[in-house]
This record gives sequence, C-alpha cells and structure tokens, in this order.
Amino acid sequence: MDKLVITGGKRLRGTVRISGSKNAVLPIMCAALMVEGEVVLDNVPRLSDVEQLCLILEKLGLRTRRHANQLFLEVHDRGPTTADYEDVRKMRASVCVLGPLLTQRGRTRVSLPGGCNIGDRPIDLHLRGLASLGAEIKLEGGYIHAETPGRGKHRLRGGDVFLGGPFGSSVTATANILMAAVLAEGRTVIESAACEPEVVDLADFLNASGAKITGQGSPRILIEGVESLSGERYSVIPDRIEGGTFMVAAAITNGEIKLTDCREDHLVAVIDRLRRIGVHVDPADGGCVVSSSRRLAPAAVVTQPYPGFPTDLQAQFMALLALAEGNSFVTEKIFPDRFMHVAELGRLGAKLRKEGPTVLVEGVKKLTGAPVMCSDLRASAALVLAALAAEGESEVRRIYHLDRGYERIEQKLIPLGADIHRVSE
Ligand code: EPZ
Repeated sequence: MDKLVITGGKRLRGTVRISGSKNAVLPIMCAALMVEGEVVLDNVPRLSDVEQLCLILEKLGLRTRRHANQLFLEVHDRGPTTADYEDVRKMRASVCVLGPLLTQRGRTRVSLPGGCNIGDRPIDLHLRGLASLGAEIKLEGGYIHAETPGRGKHRLRGGDVFLGGPFGSSVTATANILMAAVLAEGRTVIESAACEPEVVDLADFLNASGAKITGQGSPRILIEGVESLSGERYSVIPDRIEGGTFMVAAAITNGEIKLTDCREDHLVAVIDRLRRIGVHVDPADGGCVVSSSRRLAPAAVVTQPYPGFPTDLQAQFMALLALAEGNSFVTEKIFPDRFMHVAELGRLGAKLRKEGPTVLVEGVKKLTGAPVMCSDLRASAALVLAALAAEGESEVRRIYHLDRGYERIEQKLIPLGADIHRVSE
C-alpha cells in the first residue's frame, strides 16, 4: 500500500489543469453498453475507479481500450448480463450497469452494492424507478434480478417516475432510470430528478448518440424512447470536485493557484462559501485564480443536492475551516454518517466536535503534522489538504482511497511547490 509523505507550510503557487469528471465518466461508460458501434470518450481521467469499471464492462461484453486521455468502447457480445458481487462491492457506481443491461438485453443480475465508509447506500429509488417502467424485479441472494415485461421478451414501457427520497433525489438512480428510459417504448417523465452536472453530461452524451432527452439539469426530465443508439465521440466535463479541492488547496496554504479547464459555473455554492470566508476567486482566461493572504473567517456550511454545497467537498472544506478565526458549523444533509475524517483531522490538531449531523469546528491557529489514515475518497483529500497546511511532516496512509478519484494528486501538487512524495509501504 502507498502513502504520501508531506511536509506542510508551503504556500502553493502556480497553475493546475482540472481533469475530466469521475462521476460523469463512470455512468457514461455504462451507457456505452447500450450503443451500437464504437464510442470514443475524450478527457477521461486516469483513476482506479475508471480502470475497475473497464474490467467490469469487459466481463459484460464491452471491449475497452485506452489511449492517453481517450477511452474507446465497443460492444462485441450482448450475451453476458451479470455483474458479480466481487466487482460491484469494490465500486458502487457499477450499479449503473443496471439500467443499460435491463433495457437493452431484457434481463440482468446485478449484485447489491452494499454500504461503504460514508454510510448506508440504499438503492430503493433505483428499483422503484425501474419498476415504474415495467421491470419485474426481485432481490435474492444479495443480487438484483430484473427482467423486462414478457420475461425479457418485450421492451420497457415509458412511464412516470418519482425519484424523491428522504435525502433528496439520487444521482445514480437518475442515471439508471434515464438510461433505461432511452430505449423504453414511449415517453418517460422523471420527477424529482437529480440536477447534478454529471447527470446533464450523461444526458448530453445519450442525446449525441441519438436519444431524445430534454429537461436535464432540472428536477423534471422528459425522455422519448428510441429504437437504438449509435456510437459517437464525446468529451467529458471537468471534475468539479477536483476543482473545488484545488481551490481549497490554494486557500488553506494562503497561496495563489490558477485552475484551468475548470467549470466555475458548476461550483457556484463552493465559490460563495470561499468568498464568504475571505478567499479571492477571480475569473481568468480559460479558468479562474484562487488566492488567500490572511487568516480566514468562520462560516456555516450545509451540504445539499446540486446546486447546493456538494457533499463531496464537505470534508475538504472542514479542513479549511479548522484554521479559520472563530467557530464554524458543518452540517451534512446527504450522507449523515460522512464524518470519518473528523477523528483523523483531530490528530493533526483540528478542534472538532460532532453533534449529530453537524460538526462544530473551533478554529485553531495552526495544525501540526502527524501520521493519519485515509478511510474514503474525499476524507483522504481533506487529510492531504490539512497536511499541506500543517507544520512539520505528515504521513497519509492507505491512499488507494485517494487514487480512486484523483489523478496522481501529488504529481499535480509538486509543481505548485508542495513538499510531497509517494512512498510504497
Ligand atoms: C453520487 O453517489 C456520487 N457518486 C457521490 O460521489 C456523491 O456523493 C453522491 O452522488 C451525492 O452527490 C457517483 O456519481 C459515482 P445518491 P450516489 O444516490 O448516486 C440516498 C464521490 O466521492 N439514496 O445521490 O450513490 C443516499 O443514501 C462519491 O465521488 C436513497 O435513499 O448518491 C443518500 O443519502 C461519494 N435511495 C442520498 O440519497 C436510493 O435508492 C443521495 O445519494 C439512492 C440514494
């Protein structure tokens, strides 16, 4: 297992290019199962989640080939319809093969994904949504068994689907229903759809391949079913969570970083909170410049579905607020248990107290380097950010979590002046 050794206290300065979006490319790769002919994706990030999904898709008859930032995908066998527990448990996003396999191959058997370190990850909205399109679904032996009407002989039927859950909508459930509806017979209306940019990117990819989708990005999406989709070339949007992470890197080290290929319009809530605490975020040609030259003010942050503050930047922002002048409050409304980073940030000297879904962050003047352990992808990023600001040396262990969603983060941080290197343990 690798670890990162970081000596903090350096102000980061320079330019960083934001890679393609993990959470956009993963559902789009699953959608390639539904397409006739070759799909060419540009701006595909080099992430272990992308590699893991390629392995799963290969077992489902989809040939994948990588060349630099491009990914080529083409179906060569429509026989396989099972996604195994051993594969799905490693990456929840693989649940997005459910919609494509069902709608095009008539039946599928996908392992229930199970939970993870950010909390329970139910899929009731996925299953209710597919049942609204006529799917026959049963859960048996830890697997989802799904068939289209007529025991897989007929297509799904378009219908009205409601995706409102106790924590808002569901991003990957919206993706699954969207993909299933594209090849269903007739019209589908998804009410309370997720509005995340990654859902918009999936819909735009499907439309480029011949689908008829409108309303993506709003809570109401309309899909007119079509007979088939054809392979196209498509470029994936930039990763707004990586972008937000590097914005925090500039702020937490009192540096100045220019982000290129970053979509600030996908980060309005984050930029609002950064400016609220005194961070400068200024537009620049092809991106934006983020800088901070003083101790920051405290703030209240509440995670919400898009366009609210993203849950995937909650941990990173908590690391930043740990050094603010005063008390801040961070409330997690999407995954109430998403606080594995609290104890580890405490080892670096952060003063944090969890009260239910809210953490009180009592600002401290400095953090101090220490060995810390990653538990999940975004908690890992928070620990790296805190270590970059801490005095002295930190060791960030189990960074395989980090490599799932960040493209060799130390290779992007070193040119910015960070004292960081990867060590194999
Ligand atoms: C996507 O996960 C992202 N992953 C997550 O990013 C992100 O945190 C999350 O959306 C919220 O924005 C990918 O896109 C691959 P949800 P997803 O279904 O779709 C509840 C990262 O770090 N819910 O939108 O699995 C659920 O428990 C990852 O990149 C149900 O109740 O999340 C949660 O409380 C982590 N029933 C809320 O909805 C369901 O059927 C939102 O979950 C589905 C979800």
